[in-house]
Amino acid sequence: MKGIVFTEFLDLVEEKFGLEMVDKIITSSELESEGAYTSVGTYRFSEMLQLLQHLSANTGISIDNLLLVYAEHFFGVIEDSYPGLLATYKDPIEMLSSIENHIHIEVRKIYPDAELPTFKVIDKTENSLVMDYKSSRAMHHFGLGLMNKTFEHFNTTATIELEKIKEDGTEVRFIITKN
Ligand code: HEM
Repeated sequence: MKGIVFTEFLDLVEEKFGLEMVDKIITSSELESEGAYTSVGTYRFSEMLQLLQHLSANTGISIDNLLLVYAEHFFGVIEDSYPGLLATYKDPIEMLSSIENHIHIEVRKIYPDAELPTFKVIDKTENSLVMDYKSSRAMHHFGLGLMNKTFEHFNTTATIELEKIKEDGTEVRFIITKN
């Protein structure tokens, strides 16, 4: 997992819960990196999982909800870092249906070792989209947060339902309807 995902995560933890919490979740995890992340480095996904588990245990907030809030913050990072990529799109449905064959392809050019999910478009109309998410990392709520913010970016909203295809969340169907 890319370092920027860790550095932005720890920044948000500090902002919301304070530096003591950052310290606490780092020291209670077994981290090969010892918690010293740089935005251009690459680290094991298991480190992110431990940080999330300890933050969840210390705050009582579920991992899914932590990922949702984190993704909403991360979208701002994307807006600041890759404005050109977002400017390619005029419509949220067009943008979301292009993650697999455009957006994440560009991401892979920047970070060849990025660990990305796959999104398969099942059905698409002007105002709706059905997509299947697949990833061993089961970060579907990170996807949900990014989708919410994608609609907000285009000054609109959507109703997004998640249907687990696999109980462990490694395959999830997103049913998206523009409001
Ligand atoms: C992961 C970039 C848009 C869904 C990531 C990662 C980067 C990235 C850098 C981390 C990869 C790693 O740590 O190895 C971008 C950029 C985008 C964009 C630059 C837009 C310009 C989206 C959108 C979605 C999305 C709109 C909506 C669903 C995800 C998910 C992951 C991810 C779910 C987590 C990894 C996983 O589930 O396996 N993306 N992304 N991305 N992205 Fe994107």
